[in-house]
Amino acid sequence: MVCHQVINSVFWCFILLVVMLTFFTTNASSTEKTKIEDKEMNVIDQCWRFNPKWRKHRQQLTVCSVGYVGKMTNNIGKDLIHYTVTDPRDHPLNPAPGTLRYEASRIQGKVWITLKRNMNIKLVRPLLISSFTTIDGRGVDVHIADNACLMIYKATNIIIHRIRVHHCRPQAPGMMMGPDGKIISLGQVDGGAIRLVSASEIWIDHNTLYNCQDGLLDVTRGSTDITISNNWFREQNKVMLLGHDDEFVRDKNMKVTVVYNYFGPNCHQRMPRIRHGYAHVANNLYMGWVQYAIGGSMESSLKSQSNLFIAHATGKKEVTWRKSSNGIGDTWKFYSVGDAFENGASFVETKGGQVTKPNYSHEQNFKVVDAKYVRSLTSSSGVLQCSKTSIC
Ligand SMILES: *[C@@H]1O[C@H](CO)[C@@H](O)[C@H](O)[C@H]1NC(C)=O
Repeated sequence: MVCHQVINSVFWCFILLVVMLTFFTTNASSTEKTKIEDKEMNVIDQCWRFNPKWRKHRQQLTVCSVGYVGKMTNNIGKDLIHYTVTDPRDHPLNPAPGTLRYEASRIQGKVWITLKRNMNIKLVRPLLISSFTTIDGRGVDVHIADNACLMIYKATNIIIHRIRVHHCRPQAPGMMMGPDGKIISLGQVDGGAIRLVSASEIWIDHNTLYNCQDGLLDVTRGSTDITISNNWFREQNKVMLLGHDDEFVRDKNMKVTVVYNYFGPNCHQRMPRIRHGYAHVANNLYMGWVQYAIGGSMESSLKSQSNLFIAHATGKKEVTWRKSSNGIGDTWKFYSVGDAFENGASFVETKGGQVTKPNYSHEQNFKVVDAKYVRSLTSSSGVLQCSKTSIC
């Protein structure tokens, strides 16, 4: 009996050993897998880029988002519609099947959009993207450029991934087919690349945005729960606006995460400029600025964490800019935690008070890493080159 027990426990010891060995070896190989071409990869990219079969598993992306947007799993499911854009043309009143606008106006529900080939899409009117839509530009080169650009109006659960949006121009009021297939009249639109109006749960990842007549990205009128990650913003005066209007106090609830983006060269200001709301700006790289990098007014609140700010040799050195507001004075709260500064860059913090924590939920949370890794973490920001045969 005793002997039997000894044999029994040896057996279980052996099993335990095998389990532990398997655990540690898989763990070891997963720690190795944080690098591509010897560059440290950020948590969003690590989540899908090592999969060489990403084309077959495009929806894997939905669990990779972090920050206020949370996970994008509402965008997938049995009822997901796969739509392929085959035609770059745009007819705002009567969109043809295969065009981007046909999807945006004629197809409702959860839609995952891919593009058949490389395309330059010149929109005749702004494109309104509806809820539960993913635009997935991986594997092709897509430009939305040279006229009207993208708008998200009163919509939620949208992913914009790996497209180029540039040379956007202001649009006069006009008629177009809206998201529910009805003809609507849209007022004047300024020449921004992506404009969010009363939008929530929006993830903007790995896009390259540049050279537009107005700002590149506007988050306005009650929009919240947004993550702006891995994008490359360049060649632009006004880059990113969070909160459009001093009077619009509902933007007090706005929460935006700005992470792993690359700003520059030749960005002048607003990376971002915050009104009312709260921004967690972490692990971004700032390649110079002309006026300022981060600015705010109207009781806006910022946690700038472990970014790398590289000032121009000759330009402004101070990262921040703030505006006192009539009646309420200097009520902005700007804090810098673990940021790195080069070429004499400096950051004027709010005196006293406490850093506002993002209070992320479990699925929004991510580990902000030391600023010394920011060059590496942002080295594949913007549109990724995905070769046919290997990882993206
Ligand atoms: C996080 O919680 C603290 C404590 O309740 C609060 O003061 C702070 O404003 C919260 N942060 C945000 C971004 O709301």
